[in-house]
Amino acid sequence: MDVLFLLYVVSATFAVPVSNVRVTANSSDLIEFNSSVSLSCSSSGSSLSFLWLNSSSEVTASDRVQLTDGGAILTIISVTRYDQGPFRCRVFNPVSNVTSEPVNLSISFGPDNTNLKPSPSQEYYVKGSNISLSCSAVSRPAAQFQWFLNGDLLTARGPELRLMNIQMNQSGNYSCQAFNNITMRTQTSQPYVVSVLERISGASVKSSTNQPVDGNSVNLTCEAAGSVFTRQWMKDGSDLILTDNMMLYNEGRVLSFQPLKKKDSGEYSCKISNPVSSDEAKYVMVVNYGPENVKITGETLIYLQETLKLTCSAESTPSASYTWMWNKTEIISYSAELTKVITELSESGNYTCQAMNNVTRRTLSAVHELTVKAERPPSCSAGCIAGIVIACLVVVGAAAGGGYYIYKNKKMTKKSNRDTDTRTGGGGQNNAGFSGSQELNYADIRFFQNSNGGAVQLGPQSNPSEYAQVQVNSGSPAVSSLPTYEVHMQRMQIPAAQSGTQTYSQVRRN
Ligand SMILES: *[C@@H]1O[C@H](CO)[C@@H](O)[C@H](O)[C@H]1NC(C)=O
Ligand SMILES: *[C@@H]1O[C@H](CO)[C@@H](O)[C@H](O)[C@H]1NC(C)=O
Ligand SMILES: *[C@@H]1O[C@H](CO)[C@@H](O)[C@H](O)[C@H]1NC(C)=O
Ligand SMILES: *[C@@H]1O[C@H](CO)[C@@H](O)[C@H](O)[C@H]1NC(C)=O
Ligand SMILES: *[C@@H]1O[C@H](CO)[C@@H](O)[C@H](O)[C@H]1NC(C)=O
Ligand SMILES: *[C@@H]1O[C@H](CO)[C@@H](O)[C@H](O)[C@H]1NC(C)=O
Ligand SMILES: *[C@@H]1O[C@H](CO)[C@@H](O)[C@H](O)[C@H]1NC(C)=O
Ligand SMILES: *[C@@H]1O[C@H](CO)[C@@H](O)[C@H](O)[C@H]1NC(C)=O
Ligand SMILES: *[C@@H]1O[C@H](CO)[C@@H](O)[C@H](O)[C@H]1NC(C)=O
Ligand SMILES: *[C@@H]1O[C@H](CO)[C@@H](O)[C@H](O)[C@H]1NC(C)=O
Ligand SMILES: *[C@@H]1O[C@H](CO)[C@@H](O)[C@H](O)[C@H]1NC(C)=O
Ligand SMILES: *[C@@H]1O[C@H](CO)[C@@H](O)[C@H](O)[C@H]1NC(C)=O
Repeated sequence: MDVLFLLYVVSATFAVPVSNVRVTANSSDLIEFNSSVSLSCSSSGSSLSFLWLNSSSEVTASDRVQLTDGGAILTIISVTRYDQGPFRCRVFNPVSNVTSEPVNLSISFGPDNTNLKPSPSQEYYVKGSNISLSCSAVSRPAAQFQWFLNGDLLTARGPELRLMNIQMNQSGNYSCQAFNNITMRTQTSQPYVVSVLERISGASVKSSTNQPVDGNSVNLTCEAAGSVFTRQWMKDGSDLILTDNMMLYNEGRVLSFQPLKKKDSGEYSCKISNPVSSDEAKYVMVVNYGPENVKITGETLIYLQETLKLTCSAESTPSASYTWMWNKTEIISYSAELTKVITELSESGNYTCQAMNNVTRRTLSAVHELTVKAERPPSCSAGCIAGIVIACLVVVGAAAGGGYYIYKNKKMTKKSNRDTDTRTGGGGQNNAGFSGSQELNYADIRFFQNSNGGAVQLGPQSNPSEYAQVQVNSGSPAVSSLPTYEVHMQRMQIPAAQSGTQTYSQVRRN
């Protein structure tokens, strides 16, 4: 026991105190994950023990941390960026303990977390904008940066890429690449899409024709300067609904009508937009059409000396111009309204109104049949109505008795045909107090004075005629109201026959 105690006292008494404690690393340029490092702790003294401190905590051995040579050597296999220390070595023996100066390991790492940050950050940029792109990475030493546009290396270097007054062709995928010239590692950021748009301006809607005509094919084209994203067509202020005859072509650039219809008239607008601007243009389409539905209004029956007023109308854009023709050929007026004092029975007939549209170059006609009669019947009083009733009875009687009618020349002038024709069928003629011109019948009877006293012959139509006025009158006649032959002829505008060659007789049957 004493001996042992003595030995202890002797060893304690003769132990050499610790001194010159130093840490050295076998390498100073370390690369994360690639490098291993040995830290050696050297010191003077006897009966030494070693302890490693990593910053302020004691280092413990593990897979990648080895303590060898009695703890004097600390080996870190495959260093990480967290192994930079500072490391200190504490050396102690029973009589002393000494701690080394701290040693830092310089470990290069990265780049990691390479990140591109735009300012401002927008989905779209207006042409002419300034954009700043900043790139960052976790790296030691600091990374160097280069820039790529759509995979192509740009000449610009450095952590910030400034895009001044950016142009359309600078759109694309930007990315930055960080490079660590010690670890020789690179890392590329996620790409950032820069979309440069030009503001929409000068929108216009143009028509393929300046005279759109019903039935033709017409295109409206919507254009604008700038970066066109969308086109929206409207008609008369609401979204355009495409009907059977409409088609959109060219991503909405062309609105095609095939064929154009009347109902397509209206105000069309086209709004061109992109995310940074929009512009709108309008076009008023007037569909030219017609003429259609030509109509004539006015008298169908008129009496001499009255004023004929016929009005012609047609649906047409632009308004139709009108031409009036009589008997299909003779042009009598160039306006929608035909006003004319009727002076001759021969003005009966078909009045044609031709409507013409000078844009569509189409014409359309309507025909109006006019009957001209000699004289207007007097307006009928109660007594007159009674007279008509009586007259009717008389007609029945006269029909029974047989009519008397002279009609010698079937080729008599057409002018009086209408009147005579109405009578030829009726065997019995009547006269209810000469209530109308139709009650009066004229026959053209020619008496040719033959020099040799021979048979009477019918002469050519052009010869002067002889007339007999034949009045068929079963009832009491209103003689005073009968027009004389001269008056009648005047009304008919037939030149009176020359005396000497003609004989007239008024034949009246009472
Ligand atoms: C790091 O190690 C990898 C293989 O483990 C090797 O390819 C690379 O070149 C090394 N880097 C450096 C800088 O020595
Ligand atoms: C330092 O020591 C480690 C571990 O022994 C070794 O792998 C490495 O190669 C050494 N470095 C140098 C520069 O000798
Ligand atoms: C040193 O300490 C840090 C934490 O502070 C740790 O992450 C690292 O692994 C340690 N290194 C060694 C060699 O113990
Ligand atoms: C080392 O010495 C310090 C005083 O200098 C003391 O506080 C510490 O406990 C000692 N450590 C050991 C392990 O003896
Ligand atoms: C070691 O690193 C620490 C911070 O981690 C620093 O305060 C100290 O000055 C460094 N020492 C040396 C010798 O570089
Ligand atoms: C872009 O930057 C230039 C120079 O700093 C400046 O003159 C210009 O006004 C900027 N453009 C815009 C759109 O901010
Ligand atoms: C981009 O367009 C500008 C003109 O707007 C032209 O000067 C420039 O060369 C173009 N750049 C590229 C890469 O095409
Ligand atoms: C690494 O890059 C830095 C600048 O980031 C430079 O100062 C240094 O000389 C470069 N080292 C090598 C080995 O290229
Ligand atoms: C209208 O546009 C369509 C499609 O582009 C084309 O086929 C057609 O010929 C055009 N029609 C006219 C009248 O321009
Ligand atoms: C109509 O005109 C034609 C030719 O001008 C003529 O031959 C015909 O007799 C006329 N008809 C009438 C009813 O006047
Ligand atoms: C007028 O035209 C109609 C047919 O439209 C025809 O029946 C009639 O005979 C014509 N009248 C004259 C006087 O030409
Ligand atoms: C068509 O007629 C209208 C009048 O009805 C006239 O103003 C216009 O100038 C004419 N257009 C043409 C192309 O003749």
